[in-house]
Amino acid sequence: MLAFDGNELIAHASVVERGLLYQERRLKTGYVEALAVAPARRRAGLGSKVMEQVELMLQNEFELGALSTTDLALPLYERRGWQRWRGTTWVRRTAHDARQRTTTASSCGRSPRPSTCTGASPATSGVATSGDDHGA
Ligand SMILES: CC(C)(COP(=O)(O)OP(=O)(O)OC[C@H]1O[C@@H](n2cnc3c(N)ncnc32)[C@H](O)[C@@H]1OP(=O)(O)O)[C@@H](O)C(=O)NCCC(=O)NCCS
Repeated sequence: MLAFDGNELIAHASVVERGLLYQERRLKTGYVEALAVAPARRRAGLGSKVMEQVELMLQNEFELGALSTTDLALPLYERRGWQRWRGTTWVRRTAHDARQRTTTASSCGRSPRPSTCTGASPATSGVATSGDDHGA
């Protein structure tokens, strides 16, 4: 997702499909990455606007939204209804089910149906790859 002002790219974000396991059920998860706004354009609501579009996509195409956040962006997500996952998360290496604990600092999840949020989020990008399953 790209936002332009004329020819100038001023904000972007992406959604990557990942499998997130919760109690052995695989949830089709839209994992939000690369939300960023050009420095000169921050604190003017652009990040929120981009997230609004991201959340519409999550609502229409996924069972769950998840992301890993910086401390800076945490208030933005929480204000929008995202909830912190306070439990442990793991990366499952598919072949032998060996699990590696993730080291992420803050993870958030968001259900497309906000009243039933059961969010969980994997990993720093160094641990997770898009082919892995993630468990909580
Ligand atoms: C995080 C980021 C995307 C926010 O974009 P933005 O356009 O400034 O966000 P908004 O203007 O929509 O902010 C919405 C709310 O989020 C919170 N917020 C955003 N930036 C904040 C900051 N630097 N400090 C504290 N709260 C902040 C505020 O509650 C803000 O509402 P307010 O301005 O009415 O107080 C932008 O700062 C950025 O690109 N940072 C660098 C990349 C990054 O950290 N991306 C997040 C990856 S998880």
